[in-house]
Amino acid sequence: MNGGTSTAIERRFVHHPVMVTEVVAHLSAVPSGAFLDATVGGGGHARALLNARPDLSLIGLDRDPSAVEAATTFLVGRGAKIRHASFGQLGDALDSLGVTRIVGSLFDFGVSSPQLDRPERGFSYRQDGPLDMRMDCAQKLSADQVVNTWSTEELTGILRSYGDERYANRIAAAIASARPIASTTALAEVVRDAIPAPARRRGGHPAKRTFQAIRIAVNDELNQIEPALETAIDRMVPESRGVVLSYHSGEDRIVKQVLRRQAGLDDEARFLGLPRPATQMPPAIELVPRGSRRPSPAEVADNPRASSARFRAFVKRGKASDEGEA
Ligand SMILES: C[S@@+](CC[C@H](N)C(=O)[O-])C[C@H]1O[C@@H](n2cnc3c(N)ncnc32)[C@H](O)[C@@H]1O
Repeated sequence: MNGGTSTAIERRFVHHPVMVTEVVAHLSAVPSGAFLDATVGGGGHARALLNARPDLSLIGLDRDPSAVEAATTFLVGRGAKIRHASFGQLGDALDSLGVTRIVGSLFDFGVSSPQLDRPERGFSYRQDGPLDMRMDCAQKLSADQVVNTWSTEELTGILRSYGDERYANRIAAAIASARPIASTTALAEVVRDAIPAPARRRGGHPAKRTFQAIRIAVNDELNQIEPALETAIDRMVPESRGVVLSYHSGEDRIVKQVLRRQAGLDDEARFLGLPRPATQMPPAIELVPRGSRRPSPAEVADNPRASSARFRAFVKRGKASDEGEA
């Protein structure tokens, strides 16, 4: 890759990694071996981690080919293996790279800034573009199909479940009667007009929750989280470490449930301090801290897109000496 091309990609793909200090502080203590960045994006977290731990062999996955191109450019010369893959098929992706065990994992959910900032990707309610919102452009389902063909009941369901939208019924009915809707700004206008005037002035842009809900539906974002986290934890060696960053309540609810279950905290509540039955699996991980952390006010002032982030971190239980190097 020549310097000119690399600089052009750097200009096009700008994403500020969220809570990077906290992420690196936790992950830089991983054992030596293969580290999985399941959502490598522009490689910001990956670069920061490799600066602290140049000995790690980084595996970076992303379902967006433009992120794969950017991360490949930004991580050139670092020995990283960057692949176009969804963490929904994490086991297959690791197998195809010949990686059975990993020393740590990072999941930084949500969208990257270039996905939001490029109008032609169709994620933005502020800039006009096609109704697309696909992270992987090879995928068939796009926002156009959701907006223009899904039933009013299906739209109401996703607006409620994925957008926490109070006016889900009204917005879904307005979308159905305005069809065909051709662009992102046309959709944003339909949504704004469907919301009662006093409510339009509360809680950010009136179309924000609708766009989030449609994006989550198009990319089937929530259904992939649980199996991917479980596969990653299963592949992690003793004393390895993980971080998960989520950006809305639906995402964080699933992450919290999976991590608490893997940490045995659900069992703890169930047995109220009584000895665990012999048939019960011992906890696979320890949460550090037990709850979530939020970005500092200074980081949010600097990067408002970090404002909704929740950071959860864990360590895999067991002794490294129980197992050979990853
Ligand atoms: C918040 S960005 C990650 C940014 C990255 N940590 C960095 O420092 O540049 C989230 C990324 O996850 C990717 N992504 C979302 N769902 C995915 C999935 N199921 N499999 C792989 N990548 C996914 C998106 O395409 C996006 O590039």
